[in-house]
Amino acid sequence: MPARDHKKRSTSNLKRTTSNFESKAIVANPHRHLTIELNCLMIDLHCHILHGFDDGPEIFAESVQMAQAFARSGYQIIAATPHMIPGTAWMPSTDRIKKEVSGLNQTIENAGLELEIVFGMEIAMDPQITDLLDDERLLPLGNSSFLLIEPPFQQLPPNWEQIIFSILAKGYSILIAHPERCGQLADNPGLIDELIKTGVFLQVSWGSFFGQYGRAAARLARIMATKGQIHCLATDSHHLGGHNPSMMHTAGLKLRKLIGLENVRKLTTDNPQRVLNGKPPQPMTLSAAMTARKRRWWRWW
Ligand SMILES: [Fe+2]
Repeated sequence: MPARDHKKRSTSNLKRTTSNFESKAIVANPHRHLTIELNCLMIDLHCHILHGFDDGPEIFAESVQMAQAFARSGYQIIAATPHMIPGTAWMPSTDRIKKEVSGLNQTIENAGLELEIVFGMEIAMDPQITDLLDDERLLPLGNSSFLLIEPPFQQLPPNWEQIIFSILAKGYSILIAHPERCGQLADNPGLIDELIKTGVFLQVSWGSFFGQYGRAAARLARIMATKGQIHCLATDSHHLGGHNPSMMHTAGLKLRKLIGLENVRKLTTDNPQRVLNGKPPQPMTLSAAMTARKRRWWRWW
């Protein structure tokens, strides 16, 4: 069963209203429009904010700068998800991640930022996952039962369904990280339906909507949006430059035109909160009018 013994501040009291954060430093942020329209603060379930683990920040000061940027951009909770790739140098210990999260939270609190970091991992889709779970070497997203699982960028493993079923059989739930960036899925969007049928949930990255990961990822992200196949949006931020959290506001305002504000709120706040609470994300609700906008949507790119 999922580990639930790790220390974590409650996230239940962290959902704040616009009036709260408008009174804070975010007032000075030119990218605040989306979060004000959402009337709530967002939750990012995929972020490489911890320093010294992977291809994220190299020094602690940059982690703090990222935290400041996230707070200014309207986030209330960030899941720190260093890469965990079995068989490589990127196999961080759970104790080290918890220690770094604790230290960063202390600094954030001392700085007066209304932001909380919860721990997690971005775990490569690999047959060794079940053994690593048995050895308690993997972390879920916060206190939840959800594992953030990253598919390869080219092909899914030949036994990907077996890998998924073996994880689910141990009582965990799965949030798939940026499936739109997997070439096999981008070439075969119908495979997204097969993924969902296995019982997993899907996280799309903001950057995919404005071409940060190429045309194929952008195309699949938009297909998934119009088919209601996205459960959470995340930044997958690695540094302030290039992946900074304010970038999603431009995409968010366009996304709002396609799927509506309620769905954007669902993908940025409600569903991530449900994941952290160990509840399944809710599906998007698309009207016929939203589907009819699909043709114009393609002109963005
Ligand atoms: Fe990532």
